[in-house]
Amino acid sequence: MRRDGSAAEPSLVLGTKNEHKRRELERLLKGSGVKVLSLKSFPECPEPKENGKTFEANARKKATYYSRHTRFLTLADDSGLSVSYLKGKPGVLSARFAGEPCSYADNNRKLLGLLGSLPSARRQAKFVCVMALYDRGLPVKVLRGECTGRISFSEKGRNGFGYDPVFIPKGFKKTFAEIGPAAKNKISHRGKALRLAKKAILAYFKN
Ligand code: IMP
Repeated sequence: MRRDGSAAEPSLVLGTKNEHKRRELERLLKGSGVKVLSLKSFPECPEPKENGKTFEANARKKATYYSRHTRFLTLADDSGLSVSYLKGKPGVLSARFAGEPCSYADNNRKLLGLLGSLPSARRQAKFVCVMALYDRGLPVKVLRGECTGRISFSEKGRNGFGYDPVFIPKGFKKTFAEIGPAAKNKISHRGKALRLAKKAILAYFKN
């Protein structure tokens, strides 16, 4: 039964067109009976602008917008890298740090160039992921996952995406791109936020 009274299996919209992210959440919710829909099921729905100053502002904006439009419980996320020496940059501009359009390699090159030969102790960084769960325009819960570490001196590893080849998580000597997806998922910003989101989603459908 949906919250609006219509008979339907518990369903959740993930505020993204990224199929990889949809499958990831679907795997996490496997066996719970919750169906995960992506924005591909709502092709007429235009995308809101991601122009917030913080990850949380962007996640809330997308969740508000898509939950209003689709009338389903909606989870939306925003994530990126924050580097201490750069006063939090690239932050919400992580995807387009080297300009628009740019590749992951362009972004990594720019980041390594800006840090130059700065010693390890001053290369601290963290990945942040904020997930906002909204129901018809109203907040249900906002979840945050962080993973601290430092920026390497060169790109290393072939797994993952984005800044993975230049990010060494705390307690490791290898980059995210070297340690592989299973180990990354246990400690990553996204893995942490997703596990919190799962709890919030299951609690929502219990009520
Ligand atoms: P999104 O909000 O998940 O689309 O992430 C925005 C940008 O942040 C991506 O394009 C990447 O540059 C960066 N990013 C976010 N999460 C990760 C990660 O786990 N590894 C590497 N880069 C990431």
